[in-house]
Amino acid sequence: MPKQKSRVRIAAVGDMHVNESSVATFRLLLAQVQQHADILILCGDLTNRGLPSEAALVAEELSHCTCAVIGVLGNHDFESGQAHEVERLMCNAGVHMLDDEPREVLGIGFAGVKGFCGGFDTHELARFGEDMIKKFVHESVEEALRLESALSKLRTESRVAVLHYAPIRQTVEGEPPEIFPFLGSSRLAYPIDRYGVTVALHGHAHRGTHAGSTATGVPVYNVSYAIMHNLNAEQPYLMLNL
Ligand SMILES: [Fe+2]
Ligand SMILES: [Fe+2]
Repeated sequence: MPKQKSRVRIAAVGDMHVNESSVATFRLLLAQVQQHADILILCGDLTNRGLPSEAALVAEELSHCTCAVIGVLGNHDFESGQAHEVERLMCNAGVHMLDDEPREVLGIGFAGVKGFCGGFDTHELARFGEDMIKKFVHESVEEALRLESALSKLRTESRVAVLHYAPIRQTVEGEPPEIFPFLGSSRLAYPIDRYGVTVALHGHAHRGTHAGSTATGVPVYNVSYAIMHNLNAEQPYLMLNL
């Protein structure tokens, strides 16, 4: 009889916005996650203002984590202009920070980028007009290309896309419609569909919707802490078995 493949237990959450006043919440979450998960995915906004002092708090907590940790940065991690230092502290704490290179952990492939804004579907901002608009759209395109490049290198059966910004409109619904274009970009969904990703995870839209799917049916989950806490305060993170 063929041996049953054991499933990998994955916990995912984003937008912990850790600082002095919220680090205790993060500590409690980690204590709970470690009992149930083999891998923890952090979907950006690890810190509140991107300060190295805040990142040091995150790193200190994660350095005791017994499960593998995979992450991407969020826009808040860039706020103080020290994102490289935030990332360095995470890497030193043993976190697999996704960037141009994907990671394979326990047989699951992970590719991720922060992503960027730009809007969704037919309302995507186009590369037209002033240089500043073109630069803005260029950033959105570049992030999608980096995700595509990382996904193209994965050879695992299960592939997880990890983002901060949303790749679809559906999971930002609940936020004011006026800010939808600043919450994500459909350009991030194209590589997710092209490479047949198993599941895509993101944060950033704290008042968005938990679950949606891309045009080809790839499940997308918004795992912002605020949303996960509203759904289930006893388990404020997503659990997946892959
Ligand atoms: Fe956030
Ligand atoms: Fe954010």
